[in-house]
Amino acid sequence: MDDAVEIRAYEPRDRQAVREICRSTAYGGAEEALIDPHLFVDLMIRAYTDFAAGSVWVAERRGGVVGYLAGGFNRGRLHRIQAWRVVPGAVARSLGRGLLWRRSLWRLLADLPGFLAEARRAEAPEEERYPGHLHVNLLPESRGRGVGRRLVERFLDEARHRGLPGVRAVVYETNHPGRRFFERLGFRPLGRQPAFKPPPEEGGREWKIVYGKEI
Ligand SMILES: CC(C)(COP(=O)(O)OP(=O)(O)OC[C@H]1O[C@@H](n2cnc3c(N)ncnc32)[C@H](O)[C@@H]1OP(=O)(O)O)[C@@H](O)C(=O)NCCC(=O)NCCS
Repeated sequence: MDDAVEIRAYEPRDRQAVREICRSTAYGGAEEALIDPHLFVDLMIRAYTDFAAGSVWVAERRGGVVGYLAGGFNRGRLHRIQAWRVVPGAVARSLGRGLLWRRSLWRLLADLPGFLAEARRAEAPEEERYPGHLHVNLLPESRGRGVGRRLVERFLDEARHRGLPGVRAVVYETNHPGRRFFERLGFRPLGRQPAFKPPPEEGGREWKIVYGKEI
């Protein structure tokens, strides 16, 4: 059977597959770390799949979606869609699933003052030089075959076509494969920011690296 991977624009029929990949690859596959998987997926991807906050491409292999890239070209537009169209409904649905009863939510809220203090101290990446933003996720069996690179190149072509000066991607500090991937593609670290998630049980805090690439 043909094992080739095709990169193509997202279509509404891909929605469930993309959401499933978003969920299963969260935090390196550690789904138990999610306060509510549906809420996480809504916040990560719904602005793109349902409200055209940017563009989505999928990687298709043997008739199935094995990965996707979601990318935006205007942060203001993304924030407006998140604030008005995604977050209220996503939180309401999560409350219906018992969000308030989850211990991890209260650990997140208890940590909020510390998170905000760290976020204020964090290095502010140069937002205006890198207005495009992306995240990319592949199923494990489709990694290491050049598919991630092809997805990012597709996004960079589109960003270039739209005249953007640069794009950014955010990667967990401990995600060494993800960091090497972006570095191989010519992204450079712009800053380090605290992750907005319940702190590790053993204490401390998780951090994210903001990468940027001029185009
Ligand atoms: C990160 C990810 C998108 C990379 O996609 P991929 O298809 O596996 O990567 P590619 O095969 O296109 O590799 C592109 C380049 O990155 C390098 N690279 C990719 N994975 C690497 C790894 N684990 N270690 C070292 N280098 C790596 C490759 O060597 C390659 O460089 P080269 O072309 O010069 O040889 C994919 O592994 C993934 O989905 N990971 C889980 C989710 C994630 O971490 N996303 C990033 C946060 S947004």
